[in-house]
Amino acid sequence: MTNNADSRGIKRVGVAGAGLMGNGIAQVSAMAGYETVVLEAREPFLQRGMAAVEKRLDRAVDKGKLDSADRDGALGRLSGTLSAADLGGCDIVIEAITENLDAKKTLYADIEKSLLPDAILASNTSSLSITELAASTSRPERFVGLHFFNPVPVMALVEVVRSGATSDSAADAAFSFAVSLGKKPVSCRDNTGFIVNRLLVPYMLDAIRAYEEGIGSITDIDLALKLGCGYPMGPFTLGDFVGLDTLYHVTEIMFDEYREKRYASPPLLRRLFLAGRHGRKTGIGFYDYRGEKPVVSDFVKR
Ligand code: 3HC
Repeated sequence: MTNNADSRGIKRVGVAGAGLMGNGIAQVSAMAGYETVVLEAREPFLQRGMAAVEKRLDRAVDKGKLDSADRDGALGRLSGTLSAADLGGCDIVIEAITENLDAKKTLYADIEKSLLPDAILASNTSSLSITELAASTSRPERFVGLHFFNPVPVMALVEVVRSGATSDSAADAAFSFAVSLGKKPVSCRDNTGFIVNRLLVPYMLDAIRAYEEGIGSITDIDLALKLGCGYPMGPFTLGDFVGLDTLYHVTEIMFDEYREKRYASPPLLRRLFLAGRHGRKTGIGFYDYRGEKPVVSDFVKR
């Protein structure tokens, strides 16, 4: 088998999922000069994702940070589809759909029906096993994790994750691809949580436990970490920003893998998840965002 993507370079990029992460990845890919095709399951989701990219690029032009010609060029390289067959000509496909193992496996089977045999298949999963995802495909040696961070256009890091089956050529190509997007990649082994979430998630869960134990208020814990450590956001603001449903699912997967208390979801996080208080995207999480300024939500005060 020849390594198509490696020998002739990556030219065409597929992104599966037009949500927060998917549309961010599509944006940086199109901005970096790649023909980029975005696959979604339903038209409204596709439209919303494409509109989000256009809005961000328009804002960058308005701020004088981007030439309108560059915006037009990027938008011209970006297209959307509802058919997995349209990813057939891609040299790399990055899957960024919901953190559901079965949904991802079904999608890979669909994509692989028309995907070039030596194209790289990458997942943006933040917590599922790259080994398990890779094993469900016909190309475990060309399967990698490419974990971007939210907001994708701003955050410089990409974790490049290889399983025991990933070939050196696929890992190297994925690493170079991340560099070509203007990102700073790091390599890591397939352990649940990779590098960042392995360290970040216990920290966020400990902040919730500290609040539950009455050590400080939500706002004081946030302020303490912001001002005391120079973090851009305190742990509760960050949880609301990442999404408490995402954080909860990640903790479930990490606890299942490590069986250690530090990865277990504290009761308050589980209650917020069950109540549909998922943070910024639902208007309420630890904070209530529906007013002019975020205030601590009544739900967590009771
Ligand atoms: N999407 C795109 N761009 C955004 C954005 C968004 N959601 N939010 C802010 N930006 C851009 C702004 O347009 C601005 O760009 P400019 O400098 O070109 O004008 C720049 O970011 C700075 O924005 P602001 O001045 O409005 O705000 P801040 O300086 O407070 O920065 C932030 C916002 C970049 C989000 C910063 O607060 C931050 O770095 N927060 C921490 C984010 C973080 O930790 N992310 C990782 C989460 S963990 C994760 O993703 C892993 C997952 O698996 C759980």
